[in-house]
Amino acid sequence: MKILVTGGLGFIGSHTVVELQNEGFEVVIIDNLSNSSIDVLDGIEAITGKRPIFEEFDLRDKSKVQNFFKKHNDVAGVIHFAASKAVGESVENPLLYYENNLGVLVYILQELKQKEGASFIFSSSCTVYGQADEMPITEDAPVKPAESPYGNTKQIGEEIIRDTCKVTPDLKAIALRYFNPIGAHPSAHIGELPLGVPQNLVPYITQTGVGLREQLSVFGDDYPTPDGTCIRDYIHVVDLAKAHVKALQRLLNDKNEDNYEVFNLGTGTGSSVLEVIHSFESVSGKKLNYRIVDRRAGDIIQAYADTTKANEVLGWKAESTLDDAMKSAWEWERKVRS
Ligand code: UFG
Repeated sequence: MKILVTGGLGFIGSHTVVELQNEGFEVVIIDNLSNSSIDVLDGIEAITGKRPIFEEFDLRDKSKVQNFFKKHNDVAGVIHFAASKAVGESVENPLLYYENNLGVLVYILQELKQKEGASFIFSSSCTVYGQADEMPITEDAPVKPAESPYGNTKQIGEEIIRDTCKVTPDLKAIALRYFNPIGAHPSAHIGELPLGVPQNLVPYITQTGVGLREQLSVFGDDYPTPDGTCIRDYIHVVDLAKAHVKALQRLLNDKNEDNYEVFNLGTGTGSSVLEVIHSFESVSGKKLNYRIVDRRAGDIIQAYADTTKANEVLGWKAESTLDDAMKSAWEWERKVRS
């Protein structure tokens, strides 16, 4: 069965392609290589023994999207990762984010609307909850006003899909709200490849560990948390990838109760920035050079998932520990820099 994975050479996309191929799906990737490398195809092939079909183009070109679906009219499902994801950049260039993240979404849904029984999986984010009032966060927690155009594209993206599903009973969709994906494939054939200076904690830690950055800045230790640093739910990217396969199978097997559903994907456990640093130190055997600096604007205090719905309905549970994830991230970083 043929599945389209947009952004399939990116961090979460590439790990999902591996899990899809391991489950016997035929994968077609569309990626414009704007934040990924063609070499990722080699990594996927090294792990699975199979090279996915690859089409390089920018999904903002509507005619190319239309032509793709004409050519691949046997696509049974779409997992849509292709999007811009830098919060700061989205504030500087909101229209780029609305075009990339929402314009493209509309083009793809317009194609799927014409198909019989298409399945669609959307990359959403726990950012839709903002600073939730209660921990852990369930899917019923209110969606808070977005802090950035990036966050807004995830909220509006969910609404676009929900509204389209309402009038298209044939279309089945799931939005997956990711908490903080980290780590790499344990083979070290694929992993995260941030462009320039990493904005996220874990790649910054591993790049500091390997000597590419001098020092990690810890953004604030005066938050109302046990050690004063912010708390997040860090989920191993391989666990996250496996959840996509479960969600897709649910749709393909007509097991969904509603034609639009939402799931949190996290571990259910919150870890502080200092706990992540200590995990890195324990798996790498290295002392990390870090210092405490001022808070970063826009950071929430804590966010971790209630994963009951994904556990019970998708039959999925994150299996890796924080140490497993940090170890894989470290092995990947060392391989990339060697
Ligand atoms: N942090 C540091 N130093 C750094 C980088 C991060 O101390 O150099 C801290 C942050 O202050 C935060 C934690 O590490 O407390 C995690 O920060 P990340 O940037 O890795 O992740 P965020 O939770 O801030 O952001 C992630 C995604 C966003 C998404 C958001 C949703 O990167 O795309 O979750 O809440 F919008």
